[in-house]
Amino acid sequence: MVVAIATDVDLVRARAEGRAQAVALGFTRTDATLIATAISEIARNIIVHAGQGRIAIRGLQEPERHGLVVVAEDDGPGIRDVEAALQDGRSGRGGFGLGLPGARRLMDEFEVVSAQDAGTTVTMTKWRVRTRLELLHARRSPGG
Ligand SMILES: Nc1ncnc2c1ncn2[C@@H]1O[C@H](COP(=O)(O)OP(=O)(O)OP(=O)(O)O)[C@@H](O)[C@H]1O
Ligand SMILES: [Mg+2]
Repeated sequence: MVVAIATDVDLVRARAEGRAQAVALGFTRTDATLIATAISEIARNIIVHAGQGRIAIRGLQEPERHGLVVVAEDDGPGIRDVEAALQDGRSGRGGFGLGLPGARRLMDEFEVVSAQDAGTTVTMTKWRVRTRLELLHARRSPGG
């Protein structure tokens, strides 16, 4: 599912979608909240730093684990120094500079692809190891 991001209403929608998909994938409520918080920060960055963009959220089913992947894209001004932007407290304009590093800590995998005038793509994933019980059920009903 792709959510267009331009306003706070869109941010709330993306956050809710991330939470709903996380719960559907079997993440704990705590993990669903952490994922929703990471999505909020990345959506906020699109609104504040790029103006508009989109966030795609989808589940990944692997034999041993389930994942939730978030891909946030915009065609904004881009980030000249991605390494610096990922450090705590490196805000370009008046923020706390905790959004990107905070989101990175909340997720298991985190990648930023950007360059000046090239837009920004943030791809982040959180994984959940499937329990023995789930694996047992899946083996009984293939595809599950
Ligand atoms: N989508 C984006 N487009 C352009 N620049 C971005 C984008 N996302 C982040 N940045 C740049 O990376 C810097 C760090 O982002 P981060 O979210 O960590 O901090 P912030 O948004 O400045 O402050 P905070 O999120 O703590 O309020 C930003 O100040 C901005 O310069
Ligand atoms: Mg931010």
